[in-house]
Amino acid sequence: MENEEFLQNLIASNRLFMKSDFGLTEYESDQEKGLAQPPLTKSATAGETIPLTKDFSGVIKEVNYLTLLQGRKSSRVYKQEKISLDQLAFLLWSTQGVTGIRGNNYAAIRPVPSAGARHPFETYLAVFQVEGLVKGIYHYLPLEHALEFVTAVDELEAAVSTSLCDQKWAAKSAVTFFYSVVPYRSEWRYSISSHRVMLLDAGHVVQNLYLSSQAIGCGTCAIAAFEQKVVDQLLQLDGENEFVVYAAPVGLI
Ligand SMILES: Cc1cc2nc3c(=O)[nH]c(=O)nc-3n(C[C@H](O)[C@H](O)[C@H](O)COP(=O)(O)O)c2cc1C
Repeated sequence: MENEEFLQNLIASNRLFMKSDFGLTEYESDQEKGLAQPPLTKSATAGETIPLTKDFSGVIKEVNYLTLLQGRKSSRVYKQEKISLDQLAFLLWSTQGVTGIRGNNYAAIRPVPSAGARHPFETYLAVFQVEGLVKGIYHYLPLEHALEFVTAVDELEAAVSTSLCDQKWAAKSAVTFFYSVVPYRSEWRYSISSHRVMLLDAGHVVQNLYLSSQAIGCGTCAIAAFEQKVVDQLLQLDGENEFVVYAAPVGLI
Protein backbone atom coordinates (compact mmCIF):
# COMPACT_ATOMS: atom_id res chain seq x y z
CA MET A 1 0.00 0.00 0.00
CA GLU A 2 2.80 2.35 0.96
CA ASN A 3 4.50 1.44 -2.27
CA GLU A 4 1.29 2.17 -4.19
CA GLU A 5 1.06 5.63 -2.60
CA PHE A 6 4.71 6.30 -3.42
CA LEU A 7 4.05 5.34 -7.04
CA GLN A 8 0.92 7.50 -7.30
CA ASN A 9 2.86 10.49 -5.93
CA LEU A 10 5.64 9.94 -8.44
CA ILE A 11 3.14 9.71 -11.28
CA ALA A 12 1.50 12.94 -10.14
CA SER A 13 4.84 14.77 -9.98
CA ASN A 14 5.88 13.40 -13.36
CA ARG A 15 2.58 14.60 -14.84
CA LEU A 16 3.21 18.00 -13.35
CA PHE A 17 6.62 18.02 -15.02
CA MET A 18 4.87 17.48 -18.38
CA LYS A 19 2.75 20.62 -17.94
CA SER A 20 3.82 24.06 -19.09
CA ASP A 21 4.87 26.59 -16.47
CA PHE A 22 5.69 29.34 -18.97
CA GLY A 23 2.86 31.39 -17.43
CA LEU A 24 4.66 31.65 -14.06
CA THR A 25 6.31 34.99 -13.46
CA GLU A 26 7.74 34.49 -9.97
CA TYR A 27 11.25 33.76 -11.15
CA GLU A 28 13.94 35.38 -13.31
CA SER A 29 16.07 33.31 -15.64
CA ASP A 30 19.86 33.77 -15.63
CA GLN A 31 19.50 35.47 -19.02
CA GLU A 32 17.09 37.97 -17.47
CA LYS A 33 19.55 38.49 -14.60
CA GLY A 34 22.20 39.41 -17.18
CA LEU A 35 24.45 36.38 -16.56
CA ALA A 36 26.81 35.36 -19.36
CA GLN A 37 25.43 32.97 -21.97
CA PRO A 38 26.94 29.46 -21.92
CA PRO A 39 28.85 28.34 -25.05
CA LEU A 40 26.73 27.12 -27.99
CA THR A 41 28.51 23.76 -28.01
CA LYS A 42 31.15 21.88 -26.07
CA SER A 43 34.56 22.59 -27.53
CA ALA A 44 36.97 19.97 -28.77
CA THR A 45 39.06 18.31 -26.10
CA ALA A 46 41.17 16.00 -28.28
CA GLY A 47 44.03 17.58 -30.20
CA GLU A 48 43.16 15.97 -33.50
CA THR A 49 39.82 16.17 -35.25
CA ILE A 50 38.43 14.23 -38.18
CA PRO A 51 36.93 16.59 -40.78
CA LEU A 52 33.62 15.58 -42.36
CA THR A 53 32.22 16.37 -45.79
CA LYS A 54 29.17 18.52 -46.48
CA ASP A 55 28.93 17.21 -50.04
CA PHE A 56 26.13 14.71 -49.63
CA SER A 57 25.42 14.20 -53.35
CA GLY A 58 26.95 10.71 -53.33
CA VAL A 59 25.07 9.29 -50.35
CA ILE A 60 21.41 10.19 -50.83
CA LYS A 61 19.44 7.39 -52.45
CA GLU A 62 15.86 8.50 -51.83
CA VAL A 63 14.74 12.10 -52.24
CA ASN A 64 10.99 11.60 -52.55
CA TYR A 65 9.56 13.05 -49.36
CA LEU A 66 6.31 11.08 -49.56
CA THR A 67 8.25 7.83 -49.98
CA LEU A 68 10.36 8.68 -46.95
CA LEU A 69 7.31 9.40 -44.80
CA GLN A 70 5.46 6.29 -45.96
CA GLY A 71 8.47 4.07 -45.29
CA ARG A 72 9.39 5.51 -41.88
CA LYS A 73 9.74 2.72 -39.36
CA SER A 74 12.00 1.51 -36.59
CA SER A 75 14.69 -0.95 -37.71
CA ARG A 76 16.42 -3.26 -35.25
CA VAL A 77 18.17 -5.61 -37.70
CA TYR A 78 21.12 -4.32 -39.69
CA LYS A 79 23.40 -5.73 -42.39
CA GLN A 80 26.80 -6.53 -40.94
CA GLU A 81 28.52 -4.10 -43.32
CA LYS A 82 30.37 -0.84 -42.90
CA ILE A 83 28.73 2.48 -43.60
CA SER A 84 30.89 5.15 -45.20
CA LEU A 85 32.26 8.19 -43.38
CA ASP A 86 30.26 10.36 -45.80
CA GLN A 87 27.03 8.58 -44.84
CA LEU A 88 27.86 9.21 -41.19
CA ALA A 89 28.67 12.85 -42.00
CA PHE A 90 25.21 13.27 -43.51
CA LEU A 91 23.48 11.78 -40.46
CA LEU A 92 25.45 14.04 -38.10
CA TRP A 93 24.83 17.17 -40.15
CA SER A 94 21.12 16.50 -40.68
CA THR A 95 20.51 15.97 -36.96
CA GLN A 96 22.85 18.46 -35.27
CA GLY A 97 24.86 20.28 -37.97
CA VAL A 98 25.02 24.07 -37.94
CA THR A 99 23.45 25.91 -40.88
CA GLY A 100 23.87 29.44 -39.56
CA ILE A 101 24.73 31.62 -36.58
CA ARG A 102 22.28 34.19 -35.29
CA GLY A 103 23.43 37.46 -33.70
CA ASN A 104 26.82 37.70 -32.04
CA ASN A 105 27.07 33.94 -31.41
CA TYR A 106 23.66 34.18 -29.69
CA ALA A 107 22.31 31.04 -31.34
CA ALA A 108 23.17 28.30 -33.79
CA ILE A 109 20.60 27.43 -36.43
CA ARG A 110 20.41 23.74 -37.24
CA PRO A 111 18.31 21.37 -39.41
CA VAL A 112 16.16 20.71 -36.32
CA PRO A 113 14.24 23.28 -34.29
CA SER A 114 14.94 23.92 -30.60
CA ALA A 115 13.06 26.10 -28.12
CA GLY A 116 14.72 29.51 -28.13
CA ALA A 117 17.37 28.02 -30.46
CA ARG A 118 19.19 26.80 -27.33
CA HIS A 119 20.12 23.41 -28.85
CA PRO A 120 21.12 21.81 -25.55
CA PHE A 121 22.41 18.51 -27.02
CA GLU A 122 25.79 16.96 -27.74
CA THR A 123 26.17 13.95 -30.02
CA TYR A 124 28.35 10.96 -29.09
CA LEU A 125 28.88 7.87 -31.21
CA ALA A 126 29.75 4.29 -30.44
CA VAL A 127 31.41 3.41 -33.73
CA PHE A 128 31.42 -0.28 -34.67
CA GLN A 129 31.58 -0.36 -38.46
CA VAL A 130 32.36 2.92 -40.19
CA GLU A 131 34.91 3.11 -43.03
CA GLY A 132 38.04 4.95 -41.95
CA LEU A 133 37.23 5.00 -38.21
CA VAL A 134 38.60 2.69 -35.56
CA LYS A 135 36.08 1.28 -33.11
CA GLY A 136 35.39 3.46 -30.09
CA ILE A 137 33.56 6.44 -28.70
CA TYR A 138 33.54 9.70 -30.70
CA HIS A 139 32.12 13.19 -30.12
CA TYR A 140 30.65 15.38 -32.87
CA LEU A 141 31.79 19.01 -33.18
CA PRO A 142 28.85 20.73 -34.93
CA LEU A 143 30.52 24.13 -35.52
CA GLU A 144 33.55 22.52 -37.18
CA HIS A 145 31.48 19.65 -38.68
CA ALA A 146 34.16 17.25 -37.47
CA LEU A 147 34.56 14.31 -35.12
CA GLU A 148 36.92 13.85 -32.24
CA PHE A 149 37.95 10.49 -30.83
CA VAL A 150 37.03 10.22 -27.14
CA THR A 151 38.17 6.77 -26.07
CA ALA A 152 38.56 3.15 -27.01
CA VAL A 153 36.44 0.75 -24.94
CA ASP A 154 37.24 -2.92 -24.26
CA GLU A 155 34.42 -5.07 -25.60
CA LEU A 156 32.51 -2.10 -26.93
CA GLU A 157 29.58 -4.25 -28.12
CA ALA A 158 28.97 -5.64 -24.63
CA ALA A 159 29.39 -2.21 -23.04
CA VAL A 160 26.85 -0.60 -25.38
CA SER A 161 24.39 -3.44 -25.06
CA THR A 162 24.59 -3.38 -21.24
CA SER A 163 24.20 0.40 -21.17
CA LEU A 164 21.01 0.04 -23.25
CA CYS A 165 19.33 -2.37 -20.81
CA ASP A 166 20.61 -5.41 -22.69
CA GLN A 167 19.13 -4.46 -26.05
CA LYS A 168 21.74 -6.60 -27.81
CA TRP A 169 20.57 -5.75 -31.33
CA ALA A 170 21.80 -2.19 -30.80
CA ALA A 171 25.43 -3.34 -30.61
CA LYS A 172 25.02 -4.96 -34.04
CA SER A 173 24.55 -1.51 -35.60
CA ALA A 174 27.24 0.21 -37.66
CA VAL A 175 27.11 3.12 -35.22
CA THR A 176 25.00 3.96 -32.19
CA PHE A 177 24.14 7.62 -31.65
CA PHE A 178 23.87 8.91 -28.08
CA TYR A 179 22.40 12.33 -27.42
CA SER A 180 23.41 13.98 -24.18
CA VAL A 181 21.87 17.15 -22.80
CA VAL A 182 23.77 20.08 -21.30
CA PRO A 183 20.79 21.47 -19.34
CA TYR A 184 22.24 24.87 -18.47
CA ARG A 185 22.19 25.92 -22.14
CA SER A 186 18.41 25.94 -21.96
CA GLU A 187 18.08 26.71 -18.21
CA TRP A 188 20.03 29.95 -18.77
CA ARG A 189 17.12 31.20 -20.85
CA TYR A 190 14.07 29.34 -19.57
CA SER A 191 14.97 28.38 -15.98
CA ILE A 192 12.34 26.01 -14.54
CA SER A 193 10.43 26.01 -17.83
CA SER A 194 13.40 24.57 -19.72
CA HIS A 195 13.28 20.90 -18.74
CA ARG A 196 10.06 19.97 -20.45
CA VAL A 197 11.10 21.68 -23.67
CA MET A 198 14.53 20.04 -23.76
CA LEU A 199 12.84 16.65 -24.02
CA LEU A 200 10.52 18.02 -26.71
CA ASP A 201 13.63 19.23 -28.55
CA ALA A 202 15.13 15.72 -28.46
CA GLY A 203 12.22 14.25 -30.42
CA HIS A 204 12.92 16.51 -33.37
CA VAL A 205 16.55 15.40 -33.49
CA VAL A 206 15.75 11.70 -33.65
CA GLN A 207 12.94 12.17 -36.19
CA ASN A 208 15.52 13.74 -38.51
CA LEU A 209 17.77 10.74 -37.82
CA TYR A 210 14.95 8.38 -38.87
CA LEU A 211 14.24 10.18 -42.15
CA SER A 212 17.88 10.83 -42.99
CA SER A 213 18.85 7.21 -42.29
CA GLN A 214 16.14 6.05 -44.65
CA ALA A 215 17.28 8.50 -47.32
CA ILE A 216 20.72 6.79 -47.39
CA GLY A 217 19.61 3.15 -47.21
CA CYS A 218 19.99 2.80 -43.44
CA GLY A 219 17.58 2.21 -40.60
CA THR A 220 17.43 3.35 -37.00
CA CYS A 221 15.37 2.91 -33.85
CA ALA A 222 14.86 5.44 -31.06
CA ILE A 223 15.97 4.16 -27.66
CA ALA A 224 14.79 5.62 -24.36
CA ALA A 225 15.43 2.47 -22.29
CA PHE A 226 18.98 2.78 -20.98
CA GLU A 227 20.84 2.56 -17.67
CA GLN A 228 21.51 6.21 -16.87
CA LYS A 229 24.69 5.77 -14.81
CA VAL A 230 26.16 3.11 -17.05
CA VAL A 231 25.60 5.04 -20.25
CA ASP A 232 26.92 8.32 -18.78
CA GLN A 233 30.04 6.52 -17.57
CA LEU A 234 30.56 4.92 -20.98
CA LEU A 235 30.60 8.38 -22.58
CA GLN A 236 32.64 9.93 -19.74
CA LEU A 237 29.86 12.39 -18.77
CA ASP A 238 29.49 13.74 -15.23
CA GLY A 239 25.79 12.81 -15.05
CA GLU A 240 24.81 16.20 -13.57
CA ASN A 241 25.78 18.97 -15.95
CA GLU A 242 25.64 16.61 -18.89
CA PHE A 243 23.82 13.29 -19.23
CA VAL A 244 22.30 11.08 -21.90
CA VAL A 245 18.64 11.53 -22.85
CA TYR A 246 18.27 9.47 -26.02
CA ALA A 247 20.05 6.86 -28.11
CA ALA A 248 19.62 5.45 -31.62
CA PRO A 249 21.58 2.70 -33.37
CA VAL A 250 21.97 3.03 -37.15
CA GLY A 251 22.97 0.48 -39.76
CA LEU A 252 22.43 -0.55 -43.37
CA ILE A 253 19.14 -2.38 -43.93
C1 LIG B 1 10.74 8.04 -27.20
C2 LIG B 1 10.89 6.66 -27.80
C3 LIG B 1 11.59 5.70 -27.11
C4 LIG B 1 11.76 4.42 -27.64
N1 LIG B 1 12.52 3.51 -26.98
C5 LIG B 1 12.72 2.29 -27.51
C6 LIG B 1 13.56 1.35 -26.88
O1 LIG B 1 14.17 1.60 -25.85
N2 LIG B 1 13.71 0.13 -27.47
C7 LIG B 1 13.08 -0.19 -28.64
O2 LIG B 1 13.26 -1.31 -29.13
N3 LIG B 1 12.28 0.69 -29.28
C8 LIG B 1 12.09 1.92 -28.76
N4 LIG B 1 11.33 2.84 -29.42
C9 LIG B 1 10.75 2.51 -30.74
C10 LIG B 1 9.26 2.25 -30.64
O3 LIG B 1 9.06 1.00 -30.01
C11 LIG B 1 8.63 2.28 -32.05
O4 LIG B 1 8.70 3.60 -32.54
C12 LIG B 1 7.20 1.79 -32.02
O5 LIG B 1 7.12 0.43 -31.73
C13 LIG B 1 6.48 2.03 -33.34
O6 LIG B 1 7.17 1.38 -34.38
P1 LIG B 1 7.68 2.20 -35.66
O7 LIG B 1 8.69 3.21 -35.19
O8 LIG B 1 8.30 1.16 -36.56
O9 LIG B 1 6.49 2.87 -36.27
C14 LIG B 1 11.17 4.11 -28.90
C15 LIG B 1 10.49 5.11 -29.60
C16 LIG B 1 10.36 6.37 -29.08
C17 LIG B 1 9.66 7.43 -29.89
